[in-house]
Amino acid sequence: MKINTNDIRKMFLTFFKKKGHEIMASSSLIPENDSTLLFTNAGMNQFKDIFLGQNKNKYTRVATIQKCLRTGGKHNDLDNIGYSENHHTFFEMLGNFSFGDYFKKEAILYAWELLTSEKWFNLNQNRLWVTVYHKDQETYNIWINTIKLPKNKVVFIKDNKNSQFNSDNFWQMGDYGPCGPSTEIFYDTTNAYLNNSINYCTNTLKGQVEIWNIVFMEYNRTYDGQLIKLPIPSVDTGMGLERITRILQNKKSNYEIDIFEKIIKSIIQFNPNININEKKSIHIIADHIRSASFLISENILPSNEGRGYVLRRIIRRALRHAYTSGMNKLFFYKLVPTLIQAMEEESLLIKKREKIIQNILKQEEIQFNYTISRGIKLLKSKIQKMKGKILNGKTIFKLYDTFGFPIDLTADFCKEYNLKIDYEGFKKEMSLQKKQTRKSNMFKNNHELYIDIKHHSIFVGYNKYEIKSTIQQIFVNGISVKKLTVGESGIIILNQTPFYPESGGQIGDIGIILKDENVFEVKNTKKHGIGIGHYGILKSGEININQLITAKINIKNRILIQNNHSATHLLHSTLRNIFGENTVQKGSLVNDSYLRFDFVCYQKITIEIIQKIENIINYYILKNIPINTTIDTFNNAKQKGILALFHEKYNDIVRIVSINNYSVELCGGTHSSHTGNIGLFKIINEKSIGSGIRRIEAITGKNAVKFIQKKEIEIKNIINILNANENNVLDKIKILIEKNKILEKKIEYFTEIELINIKNQLIKKNQLINNINILIENVHNFNIKLLRTIIDKIKLNLNSSIIILTTVNKNKIYFIINISKTLNNNIQANKIAKKIIAHIGGKGGGNPSLSEGGGGEKIELLSSTLNNIKQWIIKKINQ
Ligand code: ALA
Repeated sequence: MKINTNDIRKMFLTFFKKKGHEIMASSSLIPENDSTLLFTNAGMNQFKDIFLGQNKNKYTRVATIQKCLRTGGKHNDLDNIGYSENHHTFFEMLGNFSFGDYFKKEAILYAWELLTSEKWFNLNQNRLWVTVYHKDQETYNIWINTIKLPKNKVVFIKDNKNSQFNSDNFWQMGDYGPCGPSTEIFYDTTNAYLNNSINYCTNTLKGQVEIWNIVFMEYNRTYDGQLIKLPIPSVDTGMGLERITRILQNKKSNYEIDIFEKIIKSIIQFNPNININEKKSIHIIADHIRSASFLISENILPSNEGRGYVLRRIIRRALRHAYTSGMNKLFFYKLVPTLIQAMEEESLLIKKREKIIQNILKQEEIQFNYTISRGIKLLKSKIQKMKGKILNGKTIFKLYDTFGFPIDLTADFCKEYNLKIDYEGFKKEMSLQKKQTRKSNMFKNNHELYIDIKHHSIFVGYNKYEIKSTIQQIFVNGISVKKLTVGESGIIILNQTPFYPESGGQIGDIGIILKDENVFEVKNTKKHGIGIGHYGILKSGEININQLITAKINIKNRILIQNNHSATHLLHSTLRNIFGENTVQKGSLVNDSYLRFDFVCYQKITIEIIQKIENIINYYILKNIPINTTIDTFNNAKQKGILALFHEKYNDIVRIVSINNYSVELCGGTHSSHTGNIGLFKIINEKSIGSGIRRIEAITGKNAVKFIQKKEIEIKNIINILNANENNVLDKIKILIEKNKILEKKIEYFTEIELINIKNQLIKKNQLINNINILIENVHNFNIKLLRTIIDKIKLNLNSSIIILTTVNKNKIYFIINISKTLNNNIQANKIAKKIIAHIGGKGGGNPSLSEGGGGEKIELLSSTLNNIKQWIIKKINQ
């Protein structure tokens, strides 16, 4: 019986459900609240805080099928795609997790049972062998004594380069974070080693597939490189779905399993000309359509930075492979329906956004075709100018990087001209750029993120603005201290607080923490795992740990923020009503002075639509609707279809903020009690901030009134200046513009006449020496632009000439030199420019026939300099 991928997903989950695991959903490909990761790279990412002991999970054993992307950072497989049968950029990771529940023995027993039991995957035990971290004798003993693996099938793996805890069998998520020793299960797809007595000492033996990694999470690697024991030893496992499927479907490559079979069939169908032996390119296209579509389904759009840049490169890599394998029609976006069909249950999100994904891929494809043709133009012109026979690395790299031009295509092209390409030079440029990108891509690791919070803070600020509380911890420069003295900045952790910590776009509260005359001014509030940090400075006295204090937020400020936050919800609903359900929120900021809302939208927003949005929102404000908050479980809320945001981390219990049925959203932020409190809603700015993303900025209440009043004053001033009234002001402006145009034309006319006059006067000063016209003059009150115009006119009248004109403008000297080409063998304008600059200062340059400069300040030397130059020229032409 052929088992398909979806059956394997189901079997895995059923097995672990039977073993008491809660089945949880995959988290987003975009890590939530984690600045150390660009993309989700493992099943454990969503549980990072739980492993670190900063958060508790409701369940102690969990299983998931996690969408992962490995295209950067510690785990990067991008360059392997096309060359490896086992790697993908996007893949699904089957994982079971224990948070302080079972440990090594059970984890190994579960894995072994699932893989080998007749009831489950029923793999041939003789083909399985394992690796163990060299210091982990306990795990070794389990494999030998409990599982009863022969000794030659359990291999210890050492540390790399003798650096401790740096091994293929010591797994860590990134440079920092939870980590620990691991044991890996391999499948031997060859017969060569089956049942023989060779010690399986290396996984580089041909035909070995690593199928399951079981990590014993015991440490946290801090940003300064230390390993700190975790509060509860836990288990994190990961089995690549595509790899186990490949084994179970008895295929030679992951790219032959059912999912890829369908995608590849579709690639060939759309490109009958493709060379089907070009497996590398076909694999790359098949892999990249998955990662690109999943990224776009999570609202990442192609761009030139961050995640969008990674997406763009993935798309381009696929397209350029398509191009070199002979495809010249748009096809990439057409693969999406097949992908949906192939991914079955995992394709829900792609299905929901199918049209958008296709649209974006198509746009990228069109743009890429355009860059390809521009690249060819550049290449042709470079080849025409080339002297040698080898195209240099810089050009190849420019073509590759700026025009997305595949190196093979460049090489192919050069071949036609009998040229070679400088691969080494290209590689050099490439590694240089990689270094730079790595530097600029490094996500900042904020020291404050790692402050060691030991106490839970409860937020009570939904309806309390001032409370008594106890100081639990104080931090200065990330280090825990016992007290703060006057003038010192730090972070205070309280057991309960009315201060809202920055999240969900709403900024953190400000206010004061005080004990009698001792006052700590809170300038910001942020979440830190289980704690809430109050950032600020001690203004007077002293503040100590364990002290009972009063925590008081700045109410005025909070009210402004709340009003803006409630207005943001109204805006969100209104945009969805006007533009449809795909108007996904891409980000928001809510502070005391305004609100900002970014959203996916492919159409231009006219002033009429802006006013429509304002009118609808002001209608709901006028109705003064109560804003209700209720509590429910996340699953219930999801079932009811309540609007939740992507990439937001929700707890099991969620708050639902509703404004009648008009706006119902999951939200942890603070809100006004009634829409009427918002007062007035006014959009002050609307623009595009990237392909398909628009931004609206708006203000509310008194700020909106002030804004309108300011506009009114501006209009009044305009009316006054124009001596007009409200009814005729526009006509007056139109008349003014018309008049202005006529005047400009007149000025142009008179300037022309004036210039001709000046030109004629200047020509009179021309000296003819040896049949060469020499005109060296300073013109009063000119600028460089006028000098250019006049020199153009003069040279038409003077054949064979040397003209130098200068002028002084705002205490700076400007000059321009024109020398007939026929004289350039003897005298060059750029050389004269250098001489002038050497005397009077400033900057400039040009070519032998035309040069100019400016900025020199030695006005007193100008006339003697011109004189000397004239003598020098006369001497030169007399030689
Ligand atoms: N977190 C481990 C991995 O990704 C299981 O391999």
